[in-house]
Amino acid sequence: MLAFFVIVALSFAVAAMNLTGLVSDYLTEQRQKEDTQAAEQFAETLGPLLHDHFSVNQNELNEKLQEAGANLDGRLLLTDPDGKVQFDSMNRLCGRRLQTEELLRVLTGGKESAYGMHTVDRDTAAMMSGSAEDLNIAYCAHEITGGGKRTGALLYVSRVQKLMDSMNTVRWQLLSMFLIIAAASLVLALILSRVLSNPITSLSKTMRKMGRGDLSVRVPVRGSGELRELAENYNTMAAQLESLDETRNQFVSDASHELKTPLATMKIMLETMMYQPDMPPELRQEFMNDMNHEIDRLTGIITDLLTITKNDNEKNRLQREPVNMSELTEATVHMLIPAAEKKNQTLAADVAPDLQMMGDRIKLNQVLYNLIDNAIKYSPEGSRTDVSLRQQGPDLVWKVRDQGIGITKANREHIFDRFYRVDKARSRETGGTGLGLSIVKQLVSLHGGTVSVDSEPGKGSEFTVILPRGGEA
Ligand SMILES: Nc1ncnc2c1ncn2[C@@H]1O[C@H](COP(=O)(O)OP(=O)(O)OP(=O)(O)O)[C@@H](O)[C@H]1O
Ligand SMILES: [Mg+2]
Repeated sequence: MLAFFVIVALSFAVAAMNLTGLVSDYLTEQRQKEDTQAAEQFAETLGPLLHDHFSVNQNELNEKLQEAGANLDGRLLLTDPDGKVQFDSMNRLCGRRLQTEELLRVLTGGKESAYGMHTVDRDTAAMMSGSAEDLNIAYCAHEITGGGKRTGALLYVSRVQKLMDSMNTVRWQLLSMFLIIAAASLVLALILSRVLSNPITSLSKTMRKMGRGDLSVRVPVRGSGELRELAENYNTMAAQLESLDETRNQFVSDASHELKTPLATMKIMLETMMYQPDMPPELRQEFMNDMNHEIDRLTGIITDLLTITKNDNEKNRLQREPVNMSELTEATVHMLIPAAEKKNQTLAADVAPDLQMMGDRIKLNQVLYNLIDNAIKYSPEGSRTDVSLRQQGPDLVWKVRDQGIGITKANREHIFDRFYRVDKARSRETGGTGLGLSIVKQLVSLHGGTVSVDSEPGKGSEFTVILPRGGEA
């Protein structure tokens, strides 16, 4: 605000000062020219009349002087070479010796003419210009020559009071304009600084609130230009932070819940065993088996959780290497055949030979493992699961198709969420925690790929993973 005000005020002041300087220089110069010219002309007309030392026709001279003095708006004085007034258009100073500087310069300094503007006191004003009000007068002295000799000098007393008055008026006008402009720019600066700083103030207020932990606050988006963009970007950032915060809280609460359930089950079994020392040994054995199973489940959950957080933290840190995907697929299927056989299922692979891609071997293996694991888990005895690997343009495509229970459309939208299970009770039985597919999605997108599902409830599901090869090995 201050800067704006200072700039406006200063530039106006400089401009005004220059302008008045120029105007008054011009006007005084003009006046000086006019006065000098008039005096010169007059001296020329008078010269011849005065060649015999003022012994001219007094009446004629007086008439001429009076006439000229009236036309000139001033007073004309003629002096002899000693500065003594011989003629005066006002008839008051005859016989007096004048000491005016300009006159002396002509009479004794040898100059042809001299000019000077003066501000004088009232007495001098009254004496020289005839009016005590004209405090600004100009003296214009000019030599008078006759017959090749200097016969005296002419002093023209010019009234410049009016000129000074009008110059002062201009100065006053400029000053009052300056004051008005200064006041206006001050008001404008105030308003501008409000307008500019308001959005910033509200932004910093919001930031403070956010700093105290309230992530739901947003700044109002107003106006246009950079400030609007700033507000919008800030709000986007705040929304991102808020959703991140929510996801994290959800994750922590889901994880704690998942861990609590097996612990509670184990505690019940343990207490039963403690308070029934005479429990039949077969029942005790069964409890121990169940507890062992719960511990496995806990371990599984914790391993999955660690995988997820580790991948979250190491977003771009894949151990990239050339991977023979054909071999990897065969090996993973081979590893899971015993699990399928346990459920009397068939697991078959249809793999195009020698397909390579750049990727993280262990993570890619985990993707396929989780998908086949699900297919086996969510399919009835005697069903069949088909795994295929094909090249499709620049991508490699995995398909895992089962003849299992299938997934409804509503559930399909959520199965990739963390901890989401279609049937909680059934899943407990089979030991799932709902993390498998979220890990699949995370790992596939780390490789720049996508995973999708197609399913008909009751008939089976087909999971498709598309992976860009990322340059051939
Ligand atoms: N092939 C499939 N057929 C039918 N339902 C499936 C299939 N794959 C996954 N689902 C459903 O999606 C849910 C989420 O799968 P996900 O693999 O994420 O978890 P999970 O198998 O229950 O547990 P986890 O894999 O962590 O041990 C499963 O609980 C299941 O209901
Ligand atoms: Mg699973």
